[in-house]
Amino acid sequence: MMLFKTPFLFPLVVIFFLCFQNLIQIQAQPVNYGYSCSPSQANYPCQTYVFFRAMGPDSLDLASVGDLFSVSRKMIAEPSNFNVSISNATSPLIPDQPLLVPINCGCNFINSSFGNLSYAGLNFTFQSGDTFWKVSTQDYQNLTTYQSVEVVNPTLVPEKLQIGSSAVFPIFCKCPNSTQLQQGRTNYLITYIYHPEDNLTSVASRFGTTPQAITDVNGNNISAFDPIFIPVSRLPLLSQPAVPPTNASAPPAPQPQITSKDDRKGAVIGLGIGLGICGILLILVLGLCLKRERSLKKKLAGMKDVEKRQYDKGERALLKDAGVSLLADVADYLDKYKVFDIEELREATADFDENLLIQGSVYKGTIDGEVYAIKKMNWNAYEELKILQKVNHGNLVKLEGFCIDAEEANCYLVYEYVENGSLNTWLHGEKKGKLSWKSRLRIAIDVANGLQYIHEHTRPQVVHKDIKSSNILLDSNMRAKIANFGLAKTGCNAITMHIVGTQGYIAPEYLTDGVVSTKMDVFSFGVVLLELITGKEAIDEEGKVLWAKVGGILEGTEDKKVNKLREWMDEDILGETVSMESVLNVMTVAIACVNRDPGKRPSMVDIVYALCKSDDVLSDLSEEGLSPRPPVTAR
Ligand SMILES: *[C@@H]1O[C@H](CO)[C@@H](O)[C@H](O)[C@H]1NC(C)=O
Ligand SMILES: *[C@@H]1O[C@H](CO)[C@@H](O)[C@H](O)[C@H]1NC(C)=O
Ligand SMILES: *[C@@H]1O[C@H](CO)[C@@H](O)[C@H](O)[C@H]1NC(C)=O
Ligand SMILES: *[C@@H]1O[C@H](CO)[C@@H](O)[C@H](O)[C@H]1NC(C)=O
Ligand SMILES: *[C@@H]1O[C@H](CO)[C@@H](O)[C@H](O)[C@H]1NC(C)=O
Ligand SMILES: *[C@@H]1O[C@H](CO)[C@@H](O)[C@H](O)[C@H]1NC(C)=O
Ligand SMILES: *[C@@H]1O[C@H](CO)[C@@H](O)[C@H](O)[C@H]1NC(C)=O
Ligand SMILES: *[C@@H]1O[C@H](CO)[C@@H](O)[C@H](O)[C@H]1NC(C)=O
Ligand SMILES: *[C@@H]1O[C@H](CO)[C@@H](O)[C@H](O)[C@H]1NC(C)=O
Ligand SMILES: *[C@@H]1O[C@H](CO)[C@@H](O)[C@H](O)[C@H]1NC(C)=O
Repeated sequence: MMLFKTPFLFPLVVIFFLCFQNLIQIQAQPVNYGYSCSPSQANYPCQTYVFFRAMGPDSLDLASVGDLFSVSRKMIAEPSNFNVSISNATSPLIPDQPLLVPINCGCNFINSSFGNLSYAGLNFTFQSGDTFWKVSTQDYQNLTTYQSVEVVNPTLVPEKLQIGSSAVFPIFCKCPNSTQLQQGRTNYLITYIYHPEDNLTSVASRFGTTPQAITDVNGNNISAFDPIFIPVSRLPLLSQPAVPPTNASAPPAPQPQITSKDDRKGAVIGLGIGLGICGILLILVLGLCLKRERSLKKKLAGMKDVEKRQYDKGERALLKDAGVSLLADVADYLDKYKVFDIEELREATADFDENLLIQGSVYKGTIDGEVYAIKKMNWNAYEELKILQKVNHGNLVKLEGFCIDAEEANCYLVYEYVENGSLNTWLHGEKKGKLSWKSRLRIAIDVANGLQYIHEHTRPQVVHKDIKSSNILLDSNMRAKIANFGLAKTGCNAITMHIVGTQGYIAPEYLTDGVVSTKMDVFSFGVVLLELITGKEAIDEEGKVLWAKVGGILEGTEDKKVNKLREWMDEDILGETVSMESVLNVMTVAIACVNRDPGKRPSMVDIVYALCKSDDVLSDLSEEGLSPRPPVTAR
């Protein structure tokens, strides 16, 4: 059989067959390219809503749903009738929890034979294993069809989707026409996916309308998983489940993902979809073990001819798609990194001995005399791998290899070991008081260089999202390296609301609206500068953040500034003969970085320039008692 010509692909066939059995039914349905429209007949464009169900594993929090539709959490929470007092919280959603998500519906010209189609175009960036079909039916829950995606993205070849590339997904929608508006009963046509357990009465009552009104718009031959448009005069008050008690007085205290416990459940679900690199490898391994050829053949033989043809066609597209990207992926990584054996890592870390724990879930391990930092992760490793394989810079911690422990569903990333530990321990921990102003400035410049690199020289841009003193490591020469790309995100100005990051360093606009941009790293970097100058922690015992306290320092005359600055400066550097000009310079940069308005924060390029100037001031004044100056530029 053609399909199995390449023996390597055979296991993939099995896996994908198991995962996508229902493909056959999908293709048997009438093809839906979308809904035609004419801008003159209805009120285009319009703001409308889709009814979306929270669903595991990917859309069980507002943040992920917001990501999917490029809206903030607040924009979903409000129309969805969330209790106002919890709309700020990061409470997870429960499966099937109803949401109303706002979209902008337009009437879009396709080409002369297709005419215009009514949809809201959403950008979606592909990860490994994604196909038009998978994203339409699973991520977007049938709010669009893969056929429509093909029509809207004529230049994309569905079999050759590049990981990291994106497509516009046309989310079906309609705007009310003038008759509907005039009668005043239809201000919105909400897109709803009719589910097998639905009936017209139950749907109508959920939206506060009548079955008749629904059939007037959609006809009366509605089958399961059809998109329908529910005419309403105002948004329905969805009934939301009782919320778990939230701790309203405490600020949200986000935890970095890497320190979270292993999520086995997620791992198992993840397997089906086969996202992370580990998932991919595991699928390959599993696939090789599963000798299910006979049963598959039987199933294929049992299919009706037509279905089989359709199945073959669809499956081959999927397969080629998945196979190509999987192979490409794995090859990329295998080439670049060492692949360690789990036994090797166990031995290196004395079976993950607590005494070798460096921080979070990172262990120190020795393999063949080389010391490494070994991070134990759940399946989220893919993001970090994806980002790290693109970056290579002396001020970023280097990834040396990885390891997949299929049995325990764990993944390990193996990094270079950075001898002198985190900046945090040098500023606030055991090694407090041992950093001169000069070393601090050097560290600031190193970190700024690393950030400038990821912001300016990677495509798409990378935002670290968790810059803080404990993610800055110092090597034997006290040069700084940025670690922990576990939360990093590619792409800019995306809206995301996995509240990640660390209290005291998070930019205010990210907390309130989830806006991700390089400017949030600039903010966190500003906080690190403040730590370097003041020796104080980013957040004090009372939970007050450092950046909010430094507002007035730079007001008044030069003398006043210097006096105020002295009050704030770390006693440990006050003792040395520092140039106040240099410190003042850095303070000015820090305060610019923590501006509440992201638009007013400098870029990393400006910051590197300003800091180097500060460094020059220092070296011009006196080189006495200072160690020789290493070169400014990163290695
Ligand atoms: C499609 O939309 C364009 C404007 O976007 C309009 O000029 C054109 O007439 C429309 N075509 C049809 C068939 O309605
Ligand atoms: C909203 O939450 C507050 C506090 O948690 C509670 O007192 C109130 O009853 C809730 N309202 C609704 C409609 O659930
Ligand atoms: C939600 O957060 C915003 C910004 O931090 C704040 O202004 C607002 O009062 C908060 N709302 C509630 C209900 O806590
Ligand atoms: C989608 O991506 C294109 C180019 O990649 C961009 O021009 C467009 O503004 C994006 N649309 C949205 C809604 O982000
Ligand atoms: C989308 O529709 C297909 C059938 O057409 C169904 O099997 C699948 O479960 C639906 N997806 C969701 C998320 O409901
Ligand atoms: C219009 O678009 C469809 C789908 O992309 C394509 O099959 C068709 O050939 C196009 N027609 C013209 C005239 O470009
Ligand atoms: C519609 O579904 C509801 C529950 O979802 C059920 O109580 C009702 O009897 C159903 N009505 C019809 C006509 O099937
Ligand atoms: C508006 O839409 C309704 C329902 O689809 C239809 O019956 C009516 O003819 C439309 N009116 C106009 C002016 O297109
Ligand atoms: C209703 O739709 C189904 C498929 O969606 C089709 O097979 C059937 O013929 C339709 N029935 C009528 C009366 O149009
Ligand atoms: C709120 O959270 C803090 C720490 O996160 C905890 O000490 C406190 O008991 C919590 N209060 C309530 C009412 O749960």
